[in-house]
Amino acid sequence: AEYENILVEQREAVTLITLNRPKALNALNAQVLADLIAALAAFDADASQGCAVLTGSEKAFAAGADIKEMAEMGFADMYGTDHFAGYERITATRKPVIAAVAGYALGGGCELAMMCDFILAADTAKFGQPEIKLGVSPGMGGSQRLVRAVGKAKAMEMCLTGRMMEAEEAERAGLVSRVVPAADLVEEAVKTAATIAGMAPLAVKANKEMVNAAFETGLAQGIQFERRLFHALFATMDQKEGMAAFVEKRAGNWTGR
Ligand code: HXC
Repeated sequence: AEYENILVEQREAVTLITLNRPKALNALNAQVLADLIAALAAFDADASQGCAVLTGSEKAFAAGADIKEMAEMGFADMYGTDHFAGYERITATRKPVIAAVAGYALGGGCELAMMCDFILAADTAKFGQPEIKLGVSPGMGGSQRLVRAVGKAKAMEMCLTGRMMEAEEAERAGLVSRVVPAADLVEEAVKTAATIAGMAPLAVKANKEMVNAAFETGLAQGIQFERRLFHALFATMDQKEGMAAFVEKRAGNWTGR
């Protein structure tokens, strides 16, 4: 298959998917989503493939949802189409997907990494939910998954201040399984994926399913709740201001409206 914004490569039983919008730091637009969903569905359906690795570039796993695509959207665009609900289809993949994160994993990028089954981080990785700086909030599960991954205190601080968490802190907090030198990241992720791909396929599916069952109780409602509020923020003037300010490279001027 041909994809516009990702590269897909098979290394024996491992499917390596690389986000490939380098000029926008892999910002997640509608085409990236369509490509990712198609590639993961093809991976899931291909009996020769046992585990996938999702990675970005050295500089950015993904710097978030595409702010330029969202800047002019309002509540009707967001709620009317249930914008970003499509990303949840990534979690429907029944075989494991490992996120290999180097550089920025911000906003939707952090949320995308957390949708994978676990995160392997380069020592250069930086995680954050900076949406509040744009006058909005996480909208792809971040407020729910981050709390479950690192606990309320760190998640709340990160969502309210937008500060980034470096790889070492992320490992200590339980957001990532391991930190490896940046130069070894993809190789190490592919090696780990190959180990998984070498296990019994049904056991792999069952293990993934049961670990997720422990993690997800109540999650669906949490995500639904988050998405409605995220959409509602697109009815505010501060969302327009925050995103316009980003595009114009200046500080936001909030009105609280
Ligand atoms: C669109 C983006 C982008 C984004 C970066 N770019 N992030 N475009 N959407 N999320 C673009 C920049 O506009 C710029 O394009 C180019 O990528 C390089 O970025 P720079 O800012 O010049 O790079 P740098 O100075 O190194 O700073 C890196 C950065 C910064 C700290 C990651 O780009 C940044 O703060 N990005 C936004 C992070 C963010 O707020 N993410 C959350 C998005 S909201 P030009 O054309 O100028 O070269 C979100 C909502 C999630 O994710 C909720 C539902 C999904």
